[in-house]
Amino acid sequence: MKNIFKYIWVIAVVGVLQVNGQTTGKNKTGSKKISTDLFGIFFEDLSYAADGGLYAELIQNRSFEYSPTDRKGWHSLSYWDYMTDGFGYGNISIESSAPLNANNPHYVLLNIEDEGQKGIGIVNAGFDGIVLKAGEQYNFSLFAKLLSKQPVPLSIQFRNKKGEILSEVKMSIDAGDWKKYSATLTVKNNYDTASLAVIATAKGKLAVDMISLFPQKTFNRRANGLRADLAQAVAALQPKFMRFPGGCLVHGDGVGNMYRWKNTIGPVEQRIAQKNIWNYHQTAGLGYFEYFQFCEDIGAKPLPVVAAAVSCQNSGGTWRIGGTGQKGIPMNEMQEYIQEVLDLIEYANGPATSTWGAKRAAAGHPQSFNLQYVGIGNEDKMTPEFKERFTMIYNAVKAKYPEITLVGTVGPSPDGEDFELGWKLANELNIPIVDEHYYQPPNWFLNNQFRYDAYDRKKSKVYLGEYASRGNNLFNALAEAAYMTSLERNGDVVQMASYAPLLANQSHTSWNPNLIYFNNTMLAPTVNYYVQQLFSVNHGDTYFSNIVSFKEAALKDSTLAASCVKNSKTGDIIIKIVNAGAAKATADLNLSVFGKFAATATMQLLSGEPDMKNTLQNPQQVIPKTSVLPVKKKMQYEVPAYSLTVIRIKRVL
Ligand code: AHR
Repeated sequence: MKNIFKYIWVIAVVGVLQVNGQTTGKNKTGSKKISTDLFGIFFEDLSYAADGGLYAELIQNRSFEYSPTDRKGWHSLSYWDYMTDGFGYGNISIESSAPLNANNPHYVLLNIEDEGQKGIGIVNAGFDGIVLKAGEQYNFSLFAKLLSKQPVPLSIQFRNKKGEILSEVKMSIDAGDWKKYSATLTVKNNYDTASLAVIATAKGKLAVDMISLFPQKTFNRRANGLRADLAQAVAALQPKFMRFPGGCLVHGDGVGNMYRWKNTIGPVEQRIAQKNIWNYHQTAGLGYFEYFQFCEDIGAKPLPVVAAAVSCQNSGGTWRIGGTGQKGIPMNEMQEYIQEVLDLIEYANGPATSTWGAKRAAAGHPQSFNLQYVGIGNEDKMTPEFKERFTMIYNAVKAKYPEITLVGTVGPSPDGEDFELGWKLANELNIPIVDEHYYQPPNWFLNNQFRYDAYDRKKSKVYLGEYASRGNNLFNALAEAAYMTSLERNGDVVQMASYAPLLANQSHTSWNPNLIYFNNTMLAPTVNYYVQQLFSVNHGDTYFSNIVSFKEAALKDSTLAASCVKNSKTGDIIIKIVNAGAAKATADLNLSVFGKFAATATMQLLSGEPDMKNTLQNPQQVIPKTSVLPVKKKMQYEVPAYSLTVIRIKRVL
C-alpha cells in the first residue's frame, strides 16, 4: 500500500515537473546527470566546405583528375590555362600511360619546342584566385618525370591578374622517373587573386602531376593541413564531438560513389579522388587521418559515419526520370565491406603493431585516436535491403568491438515512415543511439520544445545529428537556442546534437543555411554559430530543474525557454534564458539549491532585431556582449526581447 502511495506521489511530481517544461529522472534537488558529449559539430564536404574550404590546398584540380562525372563540362585541364605568351611554342596534352600511380591516372605532358622569351607552361588560379599574405611562406610541390635528354628548367611563379610575376623560384627536372620536387615561395605584399604558374624555360619534354601549394601557416602547422582561420573558428566552438565525413556524401550517389575511408589515407598522391555527391570533386586530401587528427587537435571525440552498405535513396536524382535510387552492395561483397568497417576501428584504435594501426603509426600517430562512437548509415530509406545490411554490419561491429557505441539512423525527418521504421529497428536491435535529422522552420523548434520530454528513457538514446531552422536571422538562432535548452533538459536521453551544415563557401553554396560562411579571405560566423558556441562552451554535466520561472506563462508562450546546468569540473552554475518574442519578459531565478556562490556572474547577451544576421559584408552585426551581473539566491532578471542570455556563476569554496 505504502508503495502504491509512493508510486502515485512520483507520478504526481513527474506530472507537475513536465507541466513546467521539466522532465523525468531527477533526484530530490531536481537535478540529474546529462550527457557530457551533448554539443558537437557535423562536417560534410558540401558547398566547398573541404576542397576549396577547410582543406588548405590552394591549387584547384591539382592532379588533373577533374572530369565530366564530377560536373558537366569539367575535364582534366579544368582550372588550368596553357601559357605561351612569350611567343614560345610546343604543346600540352593529358596522358594516362605510366602514371604516377594507378589511383592517380591522369597527368600533363608538356612538350616545349621553343621556349620563346617567357617559357611555356600552365597556370592555375586556385579556387577563385589564390590569396597570398605578405611575408608568409608557401610550400610548393609537384611530381615530374623527364621525357627528354636534357634536364628541363622550371620557373615556379606567383603571378597577379595581369600575369606579372610577383615572386619566383627555380628548379630543374632531371629524373627520368616520377620524382617529387619541392620549393618554398613567398611574397612581399598581400594579394587576393594571385595564380601559380609552372613554366618550362628550355626546350624539352616532361610529365607533371600533383601540383600543390599550401600555406605553411596551416592550423597547428600541420602538413597537408587545414586553413587556419576556418579551423580556428571551428575549434572555438569547443565541440565535444565531430561527425564526419557527412551527410549524403557518406552513402553517395550510387554504390560506386560511397565514401570508402581506405581510399582517403596514406600519401595524398596515392589517394583515390572521386565525384562529390554535391556536384563537384573530392580530392580526399582531407581524409580519415586528417579528420581524426583535427578531432584530436580541437578536443572533439571523433564520430565517423560509414554507409550502411546502401547508396543514397536520391542517387542519380531519383526525383528526375532515370534516377537509380537506393542500391545495396551485393551480398557476396558484404563480408569485405564489413571488414572495411572493422578495419576502420583498428585504424583508429588498434596497436601500432596491428595491420591498420601500423598505417596510422606510419602517418605519424602511433597512439590510438580513442574512437568511441561509430555511426552506421545516414538517414537511409528503411527498405529490406537497408535493414539486412545494417543489421549485418551492426552485429559484426558489436561482436568484435563491444566497447564502441554504435549510432543507427532513423530517416531524414522528425516523423514519418522512415522515422517510425528506423525506431522500430532500433528497438529490435537495442541500438545504443539513433541519429535523428530535421530541418524545420523556426516556429517548429519553438513549438516542439517538449519533444524529448516524452521519450522513453529505457530505449535508444538520441543523436540529433542534423538540425537547423532554415535561416540565419537572429530569430532563427533564438528558436534553435530555445530548442537547445530542451536538449539540455533532456540531456539524459539526447546524448549528442549537431547543427548542420557547418561550413559554406559563399561562392559555391549548394545548401542553406550554414553555420559559418566564408570566402577566400575571411569568414562570417552566423548568429546561429554564436548560439552553438554559447551552449557548447557553457556546457554542464548536471541539469537542474525549477531554477528559472517566468512571470509570463512559459508554456503558453513558447518563445520563452530556460535551462540550468552545473559543470562539476569547474563547479560553475550556468543559466541560459531565451526570449524569442517581441516583448521583454521577467524571469525569477531561484538559486537556493546551490551552496555558496560568487556575488557577481559573467553574463553574455546575444540580442537585436529578429531579422538581423551576420554576413561576409557585415560579419559582426549580432555577436554576444559580455558584462557582469550581480547575483543572489532569489533574484529577478529582465529578459530583453529577442535575446539569449547566458549567466555563468562561480562557486565559492
Ligand atoms: O546537411 C546537408 C544534408 O542534409 C546532408 O548531407 C544530409 O544528410 C541531409 O539531407
